[in-house]
Amino acid sequence: MSSAALLTACDSRTYEEISDNTPITAPVRYTEVKAIIDNSCINCHSAGSFKPLATYTDVKNNIDGIIDRIQRPNGDPGKMPQGGSLSQTQINTFIKWKADGLTEN
Ligand code: HEC
Repeated sequence: MSSAALLTACDSRTYEEISDNTPITAPVRYTEVKAIIDNSCINCHSAGSFKPLATYTDVKNNIDGIIDRIQRPNGDPGKMPQGGSLSQTQINTFIKWKADGLTEN
C-alpha cells in the first residue's frame, strides 16, 4: 500500500501497471528476459539493426543501458520501449536477471 502510494505520487502509470508488481522469487534466466524483448523491443532492435538486442550476448552487453532506459519516466525521450512502457514486473525481471548473474539458461 505505501509503495503504491509512493509510485502514484511521482509518475503517471496506470493503476493496472502499478499493481502489476509481483515479487520475483525464483532466479531469472535469459529465456524470461528474451520473452519480454521479443514482445516489446525486437521490432526496433532486431539483429542487424542500429542496436541489436537479438541474442544473449547483445542483451548481456547492454544490460546497464537497458535497465536505465526502461526505468526512465514517461515523457523522457530516451524511455524504452519507445512510445510505451513495461510493467513494473517486467522491469523487475531485467533488474533481477542482472542481480542473479545474467545466466543464459
Ligand atoms: C519503436 C521502436 C523502439 C522500440 C519498440 C524500442 N526501442 Fe530502444 N531505441 C529505439 C531508438 C530509435 C533508439 C535510439 C535513440 C535513443 O537512444 O533514444 C533506441 C535506443 C535504445 C537504447 C540505447 C542504445 C545505445 O545507444 O546504447 C537501449 C538500451 C534501448 N533502446 C533498449 C530498448 C529496450 C530494452 C526496448 C524494449 C523494452 C526497446 N529499446 C524498445 C527504438 C525502439
